[in-house]
Amino acid sequence: MRVELTVNGRARADEVEDRLLLIHYLREVCGLRAANVGCDTTSCGACTVLLDGQSVKSCTVLTAQAAGREVTTAEALASDAGLHPVQAAFQQEHGLQCGFCTPGMVMAAVGLLAENPHPTEAEVREGLEGNLCRCTGYHNIVRAVLTAAAAGPGGPASRGAGHDEHEVSA
Ligand code: FES
Ligand code: FES
Repeated sequence: MRVELTVNGRARADEVEDRLLLIHYLREVCGLRAANVGCDTTSCGACTVLLDGQSVKSCTVLTAQAAGREVTTAEALASDAGLHPVQAAFQQEHGLQCGFCTPGMVMAAVGLLAENPHPTEAEVREGLEGNLCRCTGYHNIVRAVLTAAAAGPGGPASRGAGHDEHEVSA
């Protein structure tokens, strides 16, 4: 089937199999490798991208379901001006170690903050519960999302947010 959609701001039209999952379309057809495949059970969130601005696990979405819609992956977050505020906050707060979960975690955080720009710590933990990380213990990830929320659209660098700004329970 022919599918037309927008990926990271660029209109695309591709012939795909009806059963092609969005994660495989992004990685194998578009060559966008930020979103990862970490499971086959819809449980890890490593494949998280934005679909019309809402975070989705792209291993649970058929490419056909994205027809006519806008997909955003982690590749599109940074700009010539630098890292996206959420990326900058993850960097500042050491919200990653091996990095495998990070693109999905960041996209989930971007989606979360779009829906709720000023979440509580509990809301961040609840919002990211579908994204698993085997390395960090989540402490610094939660701190990073709270830092990004506190800093606003300009990101943590513009506000000079410090490492001790948030009290985050382990
Ligand atoms: S690859 Fe694990 S939830 Fe999609
Ligand atoms: S940083 Fe390694 S899985 Fe999250």
